[in-house]
Amino acid sequence: MSFAPTPRALGRIKAALFVLALVPLARLVAAAFTGGLGVNPIEFVTRSTGTWTLSLLLITLAVTPLRRVTGWNWLIRLRRMLGLFAFFYACLHFTTYVWLDQFFDPAAIVKDVVKRPFITVGFSAFVLLIPLAATSTHAMVRRLGGKAWQRLHYLVYLIATLGVVHYWWLVKKDVTQPMLFAAALAVLLGYRVVHQLRNLSPRSGAPACGRR
Ligand code: HEM
Repeated sequence: MSFAPTPRALGRIKAALFVLALVPLARLVAAAFTGGLGVNPIEFVTRSTGTWTLSLLLITLAVTPLRRVTGWNWLIRLRRMLGLFAFFYACLHFTTYVWLDQFFDPAAIVKDVVKRPFITVGFSAFVLLIPLAATSTHAMVRRLGGKAWQRLHYLVYLIATLGVVHYWWLVKKDVTQPMLFAAALAVLLGYRVVHQLRNLSPRSGAPACGRR
């Protein structure tokens, strides 16, 4: 079923998505003002922002498969915003940790990053996200060149994997949630592997192309 919105409709879709992506933050702010953050507000905020970072990373990774399956090429126009919102929630998550958990104590943060493997992995994922966010503009794509930009942005596969490992390692008993994220990531990465293999096969006749 082919569907292509007009530029005006696409603008509205983008605006709706922008508002929708701010809902988790709005809910957190509302909960903070109404005493809805529970008995451990820091843990609540850390967990909520962490979950949304990972969810938005996976939603960003779902754009290309969805675009290919539906033929809705315009979906690609939403990907940058989704990726930047993943980074936005990662910044909130990291800020909560640095501010409310570690009280801006650099020595305590370094010690924690070195000592606790799940923090090491989460921290690595966050650091790797920075160059992707910094090169997300059209101007940066032009400056780097399409190929180099694409190679750099393949890092998102590693970042999402580190995000899942970070979640898995911090959970002490019930690993159902991280397992669901791991399964979703496996489907999204598996889809890409199959697509690449099909493109490489001599019968396909299509050139190999890599896209997030
Ligand atoms: C791309 C980067 C990251 C992703 C995707 C991510 C994701 C997550 C997720 C999904 C959770 C669990 C939420 C839940 O329990 O429902 C979490 C918790 C947490 N994350 Fe991250 N995280 C990232 C980076 C970081 C960084 C940089 C730090 C700190 C240096 C950090 C520290 C924590 C802490 C302290 C918790 C709570 C642990 C607990 O409840 O005991 N994360 N994160």
